[in-house]
Amino acid sequence: MSVNPLRPRPVQGLGAVAIGAEEERLVLDVLRRKELFRYYGMNPAQPPPMAAELEKEFRAWVEVDYALAVSSGTAALEVALAAAGIGPGDEVIVTAWSWISCFTAIVRVGARPVLAEIDETLNLAPQEIVRLATPRTRAVIVVHYQGVAAAMEPIMQEAHRRGIYVIEDCAQSAGVTYRGRRVGSWGDIGTFSFQNNKVMTAGEGGLLVMRDHRLYERAVRQHDLGSYRPYHAAIAPAQEPAFAGGQYRMSELTAAVALAQLRKCDAMKAHCRRLSRRVLAKIAALPGLTLRRVPDPDGDFGFELYFFLRDAEQVAAFRADLDARNVNCGQRTGTYPHYGRDYVKTGRAQVPALSPFREFKPWPAPGYRAEDFPRTEELTQRFVAIGIGWLYTDEDADYIGDAIVDVHARVCGGA
Ligand SMILES: Cc1ncc(COP(=O)(O)O)c(C=O)c1O
Repeated sequence: MSVNPLRPRPVQGLGAVAIGAEEERLVLDVLRRKELFRYYGMNPAQPPPMAAELEKEFRAWVEVDYALAVSSGTAALEVALAAAGIGPGDEVIVTAWSWISCFTAIVRVGARPVLAEIDETLNLAPQEIVRLATPRTRAVIVVHYQGVAAAMEPIMQEAHRRGIYVIEDCAQSAGVTYRGRRVGSWGDIGTFSFQNNKVMTAGEGGLLVMRDHRLYERAVRQHDLGSYRPYHAAIAPAQEPAFAGGQYRMSELTAAVALAQLRKCDAMKAHCRRLSRRVLAKIAALPGLTLRRVPDPDGDFGFELYFFLRDAEQVAAFRADLDARNVNCGQRTGTYPHYGRDYVKTGRAQVPALSPFREFKPWPAPGYRAEDFPRTEELTQRFVAIGIGWLYTDEDADYIGDAIVDVHARVCGGA
């Protein structure tokens, strides 16, 4: 088999490269009405429609009772933690391998992140809840890493048996399902990001979903300076006392783009799933190459395929060879283990009194050092990630599959 090294490298994007006439139409609609703020515009009797429509369609899509648009995925996490009443003295379990804000959001509400190991799904190993839960544990943030749902059934069982809130971080997995239900609908709260690299994007933006009235009202108050406007009261009458909240609102312009993108998300998923299956059919049986374990293969998005090789050295050789053939094989998230990052090494919050680690001496304490995470360390050094984008064709998928087979024969010696 010959692999053409000059085949053009396909463009990696998902939502960003799908921007077109639908986004233009909705953005122009906002501009022509001159109504950029979601809660009031030119006509006080009729508030602007975009953020409201985004929330309505999103909650129907995920099949939950409430959705709240916010300014980013990080904001969604901070609002979720505040809605659940999590703060100083509380512990929140989160995977050591996850995006920066999964950690920083916990520190910013004054609680302590407790780092957990991942397993071959690259998501939370459910038994980590059993190992790490203490009487102070109030929540677990479950990250659905790069288009694959975590094993939500055992996770929900272990968490709820202990009275722990489950916050699903769906930033990298909008539209993914697990056992027929979309991510975000399993836990107590689901959070989403519409940042530029995400499946559906508005450049920036985020959203929360939930079923519980109290969590919704507290989330609304936290995102809008503690207030509860008539718009929200019409959805769920106020029952909670006001408190000093932040300001994490979404603008009508952002909502217009996010709404157009939401309407494309299922088509993007179908496309990526189809092409990723084409690649998988060629590589699944290669000896010495182990695919990422997918808890529900009927529901993953398919925009990034992961497989494990023997060791970091083999991975480096494999990646170099794929790269020379113009196959995209770098992980697309900028995710690193938290224990290797400066914000953990210093253990600082914006002021010392807010740091949940200030009593830990010496620092970094056990639970915050690389040697405490042997599974995460070895798994994250042994994988290759293969991107599949919205602009990829059947021919791209076949080329990628053939290239992997060919590189495998050279680098792994056929085994
Ligand atoms: C898993 C995860 N959580 C949270 C976020 C934060 O989203 P944002 O960049 O919109 O603040 C991201 C995005 O980068 C993410 O990948």
